Amino acid sequence: MNFDLTEEHKAVQEAARDFANRELLHDAIERDTFSKFPEKQVKMMGELGFMGMMVSPEYGGGGMDTISYVLALEEVAKIDASAAVIMSVNNSLVLWGLEKYGSEEQKQQYVVPLATGEKLGCFCLSEPEAGSDATSQHTKAIENGEHYLLNGTKNWITNGGSADVALVVAQTHEEKGHRGINTFIVEKGWKGFTVGKKEDKMGIRSSDTHALMFSDVQVPRENRLGDEGFGFKFAMGTLDGGRIGIAAQALGIASGAYERALAYAKERKTFGTSIANHQAIQFKLADMRTRIEAARQLIYKAAWEKDQNRPYTESAAMAKVYASEVAMWATTQAVQIHGGYGYVKEYHVERMMRDAKITEIYEGTSEIQRLVIARELLK
Ligand code: CAA
Repeated sequence: MNFDLTEEHKAVQEAARDFANRELLHDAIERDTFSKFPEKQVKMMGELGFMGMMVSPEYGGGGMDTISYVLALEEVAKIDASAAVIMSVNNSLVLWGLEKYGSEEQKQQYVVPLATGEKLGCFCLSEPEAGSDATSQHTKAIENGEHYLLNGTKNWITNGGSADVALVVAQTHEEKGHRGINTFIVEKGWKGFTVGKKEDKMGIRSSDTHALMFSDVQVPRENRLGDEGFGFKFAMGTLDGGRIGIAAQALGIASGAYERALAYAKERKTFGTSIANHQAIQFKLADMRTRIEAARQLIYKAAWEKDQNRPYTESAAMAKVYASEVAMWATTQAVQIHGGYGYVKEYHVERMMRDAKITEIYEGTSEIQRLVIARELLK
C-alpha cells in the first residue's frame, strides 16, 4: 500500500492551492456578504482546466483521475466553498454523465464547451416535492413527435442562474415508476425555460441557487441522454460520483478552518502564554486533525475505487456522510477556538461554519447516505 501522492497529483494540488490563495481569498468575504457569483474566477478555473478535470482531452478535458479532482476541490474549498461547489457540479453532476452516456453529437455539442469552461452546467433533479424521495418526479416530459414537451419546476439548483446547459430529470411514463424517468439536455434560452428566484442562503452564498421553471419547453428527441427510461439510474449513478466531490468540498472546509484555528492558537495569548499551550485547545486541535485525516482517507479510497472502475456507491456515501459531519464539527471548533473573533466575518471561520452545513444536506442528506450504506451492506 502506498499513501504517497504522485508528482502529477502534487502539481495539481499546488496549482489549485496557488489559484485559490491568489484569486479567491481576497474578496471571499465580500462575495459571501453580497451573494456575488465569482464569474471571473469561474472563467479562470476553466482556463486552468478545473471545470472539466476528468473529461478526456479528446473532448476538451484534463484527462485526470478522480484523486486529482479531489485534491483540487479540497484546495479550492479551503478558501471558498462556493467556488468549490460550482466546480463540483460542473465536473461531477454534469460532465461525468454527459461524457459517459452522451452520443458523439451530444459530446461534441455540449461536453467540449462545458469542459473548457466556455459554458457552465447545472443538474436538475430536486423538486418542491421530490428531494430525498427522488423517484417522485412531478416534472413531465411527454413525447410529442420529434420533441418531448417539458413541464415542471426544479428547486435548489446550484449554478441555476448562471448555467448555459441544464441536465433535467423528468417523468415520461408515470405508469412505469422510476423506469419511466428520462434525463434531458436543455439549453438556457429555449422558449418556456425560465430562471426563478435566487435563494437567499445561510452558506455557500456566492454560488447561485435558483428554482428553474419549464413550461411547454420543446426538447428535441436527440437531447434525451441514454436509452428511454434510463434517467433515474443515470441520476443515481451521477450522484455517486457527486458525493465524492461534496465530500472533498467538506474536507476542504474542515481543513481550511483547522489551519486557521491552528495559526490563531499559536498567535493568541491568554494567561501569559499562547492559547496553543493550553491543553483545552490542544485537545481540540488534535481531534480536528485526527478526524480530518480520517475523512481524507475515506475520500481518497472512494476516489481510488472509482478510478479502478470498482463499485463505489457505498464508499462515496461513507466519505460524504463522514466528511460533511467532520466539516460541521470542525468549523464549530474553529469558531470556538477563535472565541469572539470567530463570530465575526473578518476571520473567515464563521463563513466556513455556515458553508459546512449544506454539505450535510445536498446530494443526499446525511440520513440518505446512511440509508445508501445500509442498503449496500444488507444486500
Ligand atoms: N446507481 C445506479 N442505479 C441505482 C443506484 C445507484 N447508485 N441506486 C439505486 N439505483 C437504481 C436501483 O437499482 C433501482 O433500479 P431497479 O428497480 O431497476 O433495480 C432504482 O434505481 C430505484 O432504486 P431504489 O428502489 O433504491 O429507489 P428509492 O426510491 O428507494 O430511493 C434513494 C433511493 C437512495 C433514497 C434515492 O432516491 C436518493 O439517493 N435520494 C436522494 C437524492 C439526492 O441525493 N438528491 C440530491 C439532489 S442533487 C443536488 O443536491 C445537487 C446540488 O445542487 C449540489
